[in-house]
Amino acid sequence: MNTEEPSFLDLLVEAHIGLDRQGPGSPEMIERALDFLKPWDQFERIADLGCGSGGQTLILAEHLRGRITGLDMFPNFVEVLNQRAKARNLSNRVSGIVGQMEDLPFDKHSLDLIWSEGAIDNIGFETGLVHWHNYLKEGGYIAVTCPSWLTRTHPAAVEQFWTGAGSKLDTIDNNIAILQNSGYQFIASFALPETCWTDDYFAPRDNDIQRMLTKYANSNTMKEYAEQNQHEVELYMQYKQHYGYVFYIGRAI
Ligand SMILES: C[S@@+](CC[C@H](N)C(=O)[O-])C[C@H]1O[C@@H](n2cnc3c(N)ncnc32)[C@H](O)[C@@H]1O
Repeated sequence: MNTEEPSFLDLLVEAHIGLDRQGPGSPEMIERALDFLKPWDQFERIADLGCGSGGQTLILAEHLRGRITGLDMFPNFVEVLNQRAKARNLSNRVSGIVGQMEDLPFDKHSLDLIWSEGAIDNIGFETGLVHWHNYLKEGGYIAVTCPSWLTRTHPAAVEQFWTGAGSKLDTIDNNIAILQNSGYQFIASFALPETCWTDDYFAPRDNDIQRMLTKYANSNTMKEYAEQNQHEVELYMQYKQHYGYVFYIGRAI
């Protein structure tokens, strides 16, 4: 048992660092999004923003031959991505860097594709799309997932949860209009299935949290962290028909 009181941020990193990914998504849905982006050999320079420990970055690298830079604000996640790329002999074309999505370190108009799963809402869908447009070549693509309303019913408890997490849900129609008004041709959008949340994210995260509840048995912060995660799961199971992650794919014009 660990007697030190961990911070909320420590617990968040510890619960996520060993996971394949840090948010809802799956290899099948990455492939579904990639199907809209053929031919794949057009992508020489790719950025994966808010890459976490790089679950989706490595899947992208299996399909695309170009150079991929994963960017995330958490150095621990970036380090894991770089280790995973090295273990797969991909270090020559996959690398992780620490950075901020709202202040990208790339040359202007240098990227063929910007990928970002589960991260753009942290800086705002529109803010992200407008800022990132500067870094895409003309005709370059964007593929992002963003939590969105799927129906016209917007339960207050869900709204409250996402606002508390520093995010805001909008409807798919509004997000497509924002994409078009931010300098992109709309290509496609589709909602991630429930299994991307339950099987690909909540279940492995819960395994880690159960282990951590033993490790930090005396920690109130840990109890609070576990309760917060449980609340997120219960909220999703109760209201999943009304909201979910949606892929938005566009082309810079
Ligand atoms: C929900 S996780 C998704 C991670 C990964 N893309 C996935 O789908 O598994 C969101 C990620 O965005 C990163 N992030 C949040 N705000 C950021 C910012 N302003 N700049 C860079 N990274 C950020 C977090 O550190 C976290 O790794």
